[in-house]
Amino acid sequence: MRPDGGDPIREAARLLAERRNAVALTGAGISVESGIPSFRGSQGMWGKYDPMEYATLHAFMQSPRKVWEMLSEMVSVCGFAAPNAAHAGLSALEKMGVLRAVITQNVDGLHQAAGSHRVIEYHGNLDELICVYCWKRYPTRDRWTPGAVPRCDCGETLKPNVVLFGEPIPWLAQEQAEEEASACGVLLVIGTSAQVSPACDIPRIAKESGAAIIEINPEPTSLTESVTDIHLRGSASEILRLLLKELSPGNDASPSAPPGR
Ligand code: APR
Repeated sequence: MRPDGGDPIREAARLLAERRNAVALTGAGISVESGIPSFRGSQGMWGKYDPMEYATLHAFMQSPRKVWEMLSEMVSVCGFAAPNAAHAGLSALEKMGVLRAVITQNVDGLHQAAGSHRVIEYHGNLDELICVYCWKRYPTRDRWTPGAVPRCDCGETLKPNVVLFGEPIPWLAQEQAEEEASACGVLLVIGTSAQVSPACDIPRIAKESGAAIIEINPEPTSLTESVTDIHLRGSASEILRLLLKELSPGNDASPSAPPGR
């Protein structure tokens, strides 16, 4: 399916228009242009905080104050971030009836802020805190202040309701993600290094179910040679801009009237 000599953007847009049941799997790269650092790579969070010391459930239980040093930075950065053109592009594809769901590894809430409705938060969301002792939940804005370690009414330390290493994926999110991946005709894999399981298994589930895999990333990943059908090299915002341009009315890849689902 690799476009031999063809224009990969046109090929990708044609697939999206013809199949009209795409799903997006997004990672930290889609939020880089909103000012949120990715995890790996030269400017990544894991270059500053060793994930084995700062991002595991065990580390949180042993030294919650230390883990909150890293978490506070994430909560602050995400709190000031706004959706970028890539998040808006996915929301536009949903409105056009081309995209049916976003499965995101991100915990920043930017897909919803951009107007996407069906968003499966595979690793949770920073906007909620949970007590790992009594399970009580609170909106982060009600309990977190910069530099402080938030406490539950029961007196124990609160944890953002995000998946740390060593924690299971929320079962509903995992179920829904696998269902969407198995049913989609196109999987857009955007801004993920595809190094963390089980999220990195989603493209293989989609591929085995017959979906075309379109990867949007400035760099190749472990998927590119083995799973990806079309690698659109570039930033998420620029590639989505080009795809939407191809899909807009008047282009021969533009979608026909929305079918029934
Ligand atoms: N547009 C698209 N992709 C980009 C951009 C951009 N502007 N900038 C960077 N990227 C790509 C990088 O090339 C890289 O492949 O985004 C990817 C980011 O990879 P990671 O930092 O590993 O982030 P992610 O894949 O989301 O990590 C998955 O690992 O640490 C855990 O729980 C954490 O959810 C996270 C998971």
